Amino acid sequence: MKRDATPVIEVRSLQKVYASQGAAPVQALQDIDFSIREGAFVSIVGPSGCGKSTLLQILGGLLPASAGQVLVAGTPVTGPMPGKIALVFQDATLMPWKSAIDNVLFPLEIQKVPREERLRRGDQYLKLVGLEGAAHRLPHQLSGGMKQRVSIARGLAQEPRIILMDEPFGALDEQNRIKMGHELLRIWEATGKTIVLITHSLTEAIFLSDTVIVMGAHPGRILERVEIELPRPRTYDVIGSPEFGAIRNRLWRMIEIEPTDDDTRAVAPEL
Ligand SMILES: Nc1ncnc2c1ncn2[C@@H]1O[C@H](COP(=O)(O)OP(=O)(O)O)[C@@H](O)[C@H]1O
Ligand SMILES: [Mg+2]
Repeated sequence: MKRDATPVIEVRSLQKVYASQGAAPVQALQDIDFSIREGAFVSIVGPSGCGKSTLLQILGGLLPASAGQVLVAGTPVTGPMPGKIALVFQDATLMPWKSAIDNVLFPLEIQKVPREERLRRGDQYLKLVGLEGAAHRLPHQLSGGMKQRVSIARGLAQEPRIILMDEPFGALDEQNRIKMGHELLRIWEATGKTIVLITHSLTEAIFLSDTVIVMGAHPGRILERVEIELPRPRTYDVIGSPEFGAIRNRLWRMIEIEPTDDDTRAVAPEL
């Protein structure tokens, strides 16, 4: 696959401070600088409260930065950019009264994509996530993993350059999580999109990514950017390899010494 060398996302001196009445301001992000090339798969890991969701929301134009800049294909992000950036969250956020296909088509209606084109995309992307047989089911008739796949199809159907995902498999059990990770890798390989994924699983991050960005908390900042040079295509065998184990230990040590917002460790060494 031909990949452009110019970064599709550039983050420059990004800061985010949450000021709340009666409480000390929270420096959620401090001096964040990185860039992501077109077609890359990048994961962001770090302890709870280190600003991962804040960063993703700023990248997606859902939240303003306090200082600094985010550029997407050279254009400053000042609000949501439907068609360029799609977001997928932990909760599939489907409309319960709409079928799977109608959930996928809804943002396209808002964007005034012509009907024939909408239907073409709806079919194509539901098929890509393996749900062509479930197009007319309502969300309550779908499993958690299927709902999350509808949510991914909805993101893909907008044919964005970039897909931002905030713990999209966080609500799934381990088996479905592994399946979805594999599925996502296949979709990424098929579509050549740029994917930025927040995950609390180091194994998932390493297995899927070209680059893992490791964040620390208080203030939220980047500790390190780790290039994952494991060959592709990747199969699950690689998870048991010594190379994989060495990367995981290194990431785990970086995060282990970091303070978190709560007592429960947000980052687990295993899936
Ligand atoms: N709307 C908000 N108002 C005040 N503080 C917030 C708000 N959202 C998040 N924070 C704080 O900012 C920090 C980063 O939060 P968040 O981006 O959700 O971290 P993560 O996704 O890594 O767990 C945390 O200390 C959190 O409590
Ligand atoms: Mg979060």
